[in-house]
Amino acid sequence: MQVHQNYQLKKYNTFGIDATAKYFATFSSIDEFQEILDHPGAVTSNRKLILGGGSNILFVQDFNGIILKNNIRGISISAEDDEYVYVNAAAGENWHELVTYCVERNFGGIENLSLIPGNTGAAPMQNIGAYGVELADVFYDLRAFHIHDKKIIKFFAADCAFGYRDSVFKKKYKEQFAILDITLRLSKKPLLNISYAALQNELEKIDVSELTVKIISQTVINIRKSKLPDPGQIGNAGSFFKNPEIPAEKHEELLSKFPGIVSYPLPNGNSKLAAAWLIEQCGYKGFRRGDAGCHEKQALVLVNYGNATGKELYRLSEEILLSVLKKFNVQLEREVNIIN
Ligand code: FAD
Ligand code: EPU
Repeated sequence: MQVHQNYQLKKYNTFGIDATAKYFATFSSIDEFQEILDHPGAVTSNRKLILGGGSNILFVQDFNGIILKNNIRGISISAEDDEYVYVNAAAGENWHELVTYCVERNFGGIENLSLIPGNTGAAPMQNIGAYGVELADVFYDLRAFHIHDKKIIKFFAADCAFGYRDSVFKKKYKEQFAILDITLRLSKKPLLNISYAALQNELEKIDVSELTVKIISQTVINIRKSKLPDPGQIGNAGSFFKNPEIPAEKHEELLSKFPGIVSYPLPNGNSKLAAAWLIEQCGYKGFRRGDAGCHEKQALVLVNYGNATGKELYRLSEEILLSVLKKFNVQLEREVNIIN
């Protein structure tokens, strides 16, 4: 166990922000985690941030606390019956490697979530979602360690308050728990979800007699590679904002003023707007100031072309928020976790 001081975080966040942490340590077991919590660096730090792959955070300044990087590994089948298999994965497992493990065994349910960066422990944090599927659809339970009470608590789906890119861990229990592992309930007789238009369109181009989880996974990988910037090439954290939900009357009003507006009906009668479209209409697609910018192919993704600071990216996000509010009277909400 080693606790580093004034530790450089550039390679620990996919935005590639050059910030430091007052203290930094990695842990590969619960015992090691508890040992670090007893270290003076942790005891004297008011803020304790659990870190996964760093693909959904923006450091806007140096972190004046301890960062604890969760490297607990392991994937196993914890139970099964005729229909379902329960796959348990430790928080430090790479999410896409877990998807690959399941796809190779034909366990259905997370193939649409292929190639989402980051680690398994962060997946419930914001209820990751893509191509018509959310983690909540297959989530069974998780174990989390309460950082102050030092107790392990089990959460079932009903305890997590999952919403669109939301959960209790993002709001009510923010920075209180270290998620240790999660269990997913996956199907042995996969029911494929091809409801998402972009996925359906891509599948129509492929000549196959029968769709499989493997084909869905590969198709999602292909779409993602063609649309989203690779953080290995350009710093980014995926969608910077959520797609806003608005009531029917507001949608009618916007549609009459902006007939091209991109929206999706929701079961509750509201509509979800494509934030990328709103941002593009405000002229930010491909915008660049210094090294902070808005991606040229996907307006919802803010990018660091090299040496942008967290503050510069945050300021750009503020400018975009205000611009969208002024033009459409729609309030965007950040999806990325802002770390002050
Ligand atoms: P981190 O960035 O390390 O952490 C995110 C937050 O979770 C932080 O607040 C952190 O403190 C907390 N956290 C992390 N691990 C734990 C833990 N074990 N216990 C408690 N708290 C923890 N997301 C989607 O939903 N759908 C997408 O399609 C998608 N596409 C993306 C594409 C790109 C190119 C990129 C860069 C990101 C994308 N994302 C997407 C966002 C990101 O991949 C997910 O949010 C992912 O789950 C973050 O995982 P991470 O391990 O990197 O989390
Ligand atoms: N669009 C524009 N301009 C752009 C890009 C897109 O007008 O620059 C319009 C297009 O009409 C397009 C629509 O926006 O049809 C939606 O775009 P896309 O399919 O790329 O999806 P998105 O709404 O931008 C969401 C998620 C992604 C997820 C994809 C696929 C959010 C905030 N983002 O993006 O998640 O991968 O759908 O399901 O919900 C993430 O969370 O980091 C993330 C990447």
